[in-house]
Order: sequence, then C-alpha cells, then structure tokens
Amino acid sequence: MIIRTYRKGDEEGIVELLKICFDDFNRWGVTAEDWLSYEEGDYGFKKNNALVAEVGGRIVGHLHLVVRRAYIGAGSADICGIANVSTHPDFRGRGIATALVKRAIEVCREMGLPVVSLLTGYGSEGYRVYRSIGFSNTTFLRVYVGARDSVEKFLEKHGGSRLEVEEIGYGNIDEVIKLHDTLRKKVNLVISRPRDYWVSKVLKRFFFYSFFYDRSEAAIKLLFRDSSVPVGYSLAFSGQRSSRNYWQRDAGVILEAVAINGKYLKSVISETLRLLLSSGAKVFRLYLPTSYRHLLLYSFEEFKGGLLMDYVVDLKKLLSDIRDELSWRVASAELSGPIGISIRSPYGCATINVVDSEVEISGQCESEEEVEFTGDGIVKVLYGVSSVDRLVYRDHVVKINLSSRAFKTMKTLFPVKPVYIPRIDQW
Ligand SMILES: CC(C)(COP(=O)(O)OP(=O)(O)OC[C@H]1O[C@@H](n2cnc3c(N)ncnc32)[C@H](O)[C@@H]1OP(=O)(O)O)[C@@H](O)C(=O)NCCC(=O)NCCS
Repeated sequence: MIIRTYRKGDEEGIVELLKICFDDFNRWGVTAEDWLSYEEGDYGFKKNNALVAEVGGRIVGHLHLVVRRAYIGAGSADICGIANVSTHPDFRGRGIATALVKRAIEVCREMGLPVVSLLTGYGSEGYRVYRSIGFSNTTFLRVYVGARDSVEKFLEKHGGSRLEVEEIGYGNIDEVIKLHDTLRKKVNLVISRPRDYWVSKVLKRFFFYSFFYDRSEAAIKLLFRDSSVPVGYSLAFSGQRSSRNYWQRDAGVILEAVAINGKYLKSVISETLRLLLSSGAKVFRLYLPTSYRHLLLYSFEEFKGGLLMDYVVDLKKLLSDIRDELSWRVASAELSGPIGISIRSPYGCATINVVDSEVEISGQCESEEEVEFTGDGIVKVLYGVSSVDRLVYRDHVVKINLSSRAFKTMKTLFPVKPVYIPRIDQW
C-alpha cells in the first residue's frame, strides 16, 4: 500500500470510493466534475491536498485536508481540517485509515498549521480510529428539531416582526458579510469567509456543507432591515425547492441565523420559519449555536450532532496565533502581570506570560505556576467549551499548582463561550 497526494485523474477513483463509503455522497449524486469544482471560491479546498491510499494501482483509501481560518475573538488560527476519511469495505481493518490520518497530521505539521480538526459521529467507526491516534473530544455541535406544531408554537410566541425583508444578492452581500462578522463576538471558531467565498458558496451555487450544494434557487437567503439599517440575515434550505436527492422533500432547514441582538434574532428566525412553512416544509432542522438555546428550547428539541475532535500539533503556535485575543481579555479584565503560567498537555507544553496586560507565549516550561490538562481538557479550555474549574471537577486536569492569582488569570484567559461552526463551512 502506498500513500500519496492527488494526481490528475484521481478524482474518478476518489468519487467512486466516496460514494461506496458514504451514503450521502451517493444520494447527493456527486460526480468527478463536482469534486473538481469545489475549488472555485473555496480557499480551503485544494485538490492537491487530497491524500489517497493505493493498492495495485487502485484507490482504496482517501482523505482530504481542508484548511480553514477559524476565529477565536480577535485572534485567528489556520486549522487543518480532515474530511472524507474513507477505506473501501474490502480493505478495512488493515490500518489504511490510521496510516492516512497519521500522514495527514505530518502534512499539517509540514504546512506549519497548529491544529488538526475533524467532525465525526461519537462512537462511529472513524471515531475509534481518531481516538486511538490521539485526537481529543472538543465538543458536540447541536441541531434543533421540530415538526410543524413546533414552528407554530414558536411563531405564536415570537411572530409579528415589522422588519423589512429582502433577498440576499450581489447588491447587498457586503452588508451580510459585515453582519456575519458580528458572530465572532458571540461564538468561538467562526470560519473566515472572504467575499469570493460568499459569492461562490452562497450566491452562485448554494452550499449546505463543504461538499454538497444545490442550485441557488433552492435556498432561502434573507437580509433583514429596521428603518433601512441591516440587523440580521438567515440562510435556509427548502426540500421542496431542491434539485438534489439529499434532504427529504418536506424538510425545512435553517443553516444560519445571525442578528445584532436577541430581539432581532427572534424576528430573523421566525420570519425564516414562516417562509419555510409556507413553502411546504413539515420537518424542521435548525443548525444554530447553543447560545440560541433559551429561545429555541421552548419549541424545539435539542440533539447532539457531529463531534468536533482536535489534535494539537503545536501548542505554542496555537496560543501565539490567538495572542491578540488573549491580551485583549487580560486588558479588559484589568489584570496585569507579571505572571507566568505553564500549560502542559499530551500535545506538549507552553507558557503564557502576562506582562503589563500583554500576553507573550514561550515554548519553555519552567514556571512554578502550572497546570497539566488531559488531551480532552486542553482542547476544551482553548476553545472555551469548559471553564478551568469545571475541568478540574471532570478529571480533565492531571495536575494543578496555581496560586489564586494565577487561577484567576487562567479563568480570564479562557472564558466559556459557545463553539459554533455553521454547516456551510463544515468539512
Ligand atoms: C472509518 C474507516 C475509514 C476506517 O477505515 P480502516 O482502514 O478500516 O481503519 P483502520 O484499519 O485504520 O482501523 C480500523 C480497525 O482496524 C484495526 N487495524 C489496524 N491495522 C490492522 C491490521 N493490520 N490488521 C487488523 N486490524 C487492524 C485498527 O486497530 C482498528 O481497530 P479498532 O477500531 O478496534 O481500534 C472505514 O470504516 C470507512 O470507510 N467507513 C465508512 C466511512 C466513514 O464512516 N468514515 C469516517 C468519517 S468521520
């Protein structure tokens, strides 16, 4: 078995394998032309970042590296996403996926990327492979589900908006991009979307996931204004209008809803639901952040969706990439140094030094103030999934030697915040 990167012509074998291994690729009817076209307007998709495992000239294993820029507040890091891990059924249980993922980690390291990230089903065949390689469980993404009666209940409570509504198009896309940027204040791991990404993935075609798209008309794309000022937008999808056999015909799916405050958010969601309802939707799935939970749980049920798993390649680099945000957090809490805290993990160690409300990161680990996390612990603290005290309580801290001042600094550096990756950006 050899593992190598993409060569011209591999797309046929890759697509054939994806259709054998994933029912949704099959239902969606992906073609080699589709696969090649993902590169248009998506900075994360490069055919040359596909890895294949070959046995006797035949492609029997594959994965794709999708590099996405993710924001943590004002800081951002390029994360190396692993997608589409697949081994032909006749070749499973021989270590092909394990070898592909290990090679992928090396490629990500060579590219200088600090973290490798993937989405999978908890306990799935893939999960076991990733877990034994050393990936950590970061968090579950959520989906809110309901039928028509749930929507009617929601509209009774939150209906009646007086906002102006228009379709998103070339004329107002820049206003939508600005609104999307406000999401960074509310959730972690917002994925960067340059303008051509928006045009290609939302306007020209409509992507509901990095690899699946439909014609633009299948989407509901709304911009909301109050007295002409943009206050929110939504991206949704109606099974009725779909030309692909992916969602069921009576599905109504909200992929994204963003507003500048809670009052407008209610209107954005209710108007989008109303439109889906009138377009014939009977079953509704809302892929929204957990910060919207209080609003949705009265009417919809919350389910765990994909599990985000991470493998930290370079802890020092990851912390350095989000240094601006860390400095901002320290400054806004009016904390000042000097203080140094060494953070240990199975992925290595780094020290955060706070000097005059500025954060510096070093790869040396000599501070007496120190905390050692498990793999699950370090990714949860970095992305704001859990607070440090909660991680101690949950056995995700192996060792802790922090003064009360250092503990307070850690809590300030790593506040809890929902993690949210919209479906469109998922890999
Ligand atoms: C998930 C998937 C990619 C795994 O592929 P694979 O090549 O069989 O994976 P591996 O061989 O590396 O590992 C699978 C098991 O075989 C074992 N194995 C590895 N090398 C082996 C060998 N030489 N001999 C026997 N068993 C071996 C592994 O230990 C592992 O066992 P474990 O789960 O009990 O730890 C494959 O099942 C698949 O394509 N599934 C459908 C698509 C999918 O769900 N992809 C994941 C999306 S997130």
